[in-house]
Amino acid sequence: MIIFKTQEEIDFMAQGGKILAHVLDMVVLAVKPGVGTQELNDLAEKLISEKGGYPAFKGYKISPDDTPYPSTLCTSINDEVVHAPAVPDRILKEGDIIGLDIGVEYQGMFTDMARTVAVGEINDKAKKLLQVTQDALAKGIKQFKEGNTLADIGKAIQDYAEGHGYSMIRELVGHGVGKAVHEDPRVPNYFTEEAKKIKIKKGMTIAIEPMVNIGDWPLKVLADDWTYATKDGSLSAQFEHTVALDHDGNSIIITK
Ligand code: MF3
Ligand code: CO
Repeated sequence: MIIFKTQEEIDFMAQGGKILAHVLDMVVLAVKPGVGTQELNDLAEKLISEKGGYPAFKGYKISPDDTPYPSTLCTSINDEVVHAPAVPDRILKEGDIIGLDIGVEYQGMFTDMARTVAVGEINDKAKKLLQVTQDALAKGIKQFKEGNTLADIGKAIQDYAEGHGYSMIRELVGHGVGKAVHEDPRVPNYFTEEAKKIKIKKGMTIAIEPMVNIGDWPLKVLADDWTYATKDGSLSAQFEHTVALDHDGNSIIITK
C-alpha cells in the first residue's frame, strides 16, 4: 500500500533531506586516497547526530530474517553496486569509485540519497559512467510529475543509460520512502507494465535510484551477506534522490 504524505510530513522530510544532503556533501569532501570506509561512516554518524537526526540504515533489516545492517553509510567500491557496509581497514585507493548511500530519520520521517564519486583521479571510462548515471537520475526526476506514471520514470532512465551502452540492474529498484526507509511502491529503473499502473499523485514520496553497470546487469551477493556486486566484475554506479509531489502539485527534490 502506498502511503501518501500530508504537507506537514513532506515539510519535515524536506528538513531531514536538507540535513542529509549536507552530511553527504561533507562525506564526499572527505573522500581521498588513504581514507578508510569506517572513517567516512563515523564522520557521517557524527554529523547526523549533531543535526538532531538518526542514521536510518544502522540496525535496519530489509527483510525480517536479515541481520541488522551494521553501518550508517553504505560504501560500495568499483564493481560493488550497493549496500557494502563500512568496515575497519578498508582503505580507498586512487582510481576507485565509491558509491555513498545514506539515510536519515528526522522528526519521525525518513529520507534516502546516494552519490558515486571518484577517489583521486579516475579514468575516462569511470568518469563517463558517473556522469551518465547522474544524468539518468535527472532524466527520471523530470518525469516525476502529476499525470505521469512510474513507468515514465523507469523508461526515461533506461532509455538514457542503455543509449550509452550500459545496462540497468533488474534485481534492485527505487521505492517509496517517508514513514520508513522502504515503502511501496517499487520504482524500477526500467520500463514495466506494473509501473504503468501507478500514477504519480500529490503526497507521493519516493526514492529514485538508478544503478547502472558498464557490463551486464546480473548481480551476486558477497560473503558479508549485504554487498551486491556485478557478476561480471564490471564497474557500477548509483545516484539517488528522495523526491515528493507536494500538495500544491510541485515536484520537489527533498534531498538537496
Ligand atoms: N538506500 C538503500 C536502498 O534503497 C537502503 C539501504 S538499507 C541498508 O536500498 F540497510 F541496506 F543499508
Ligand atoms: Co533507496
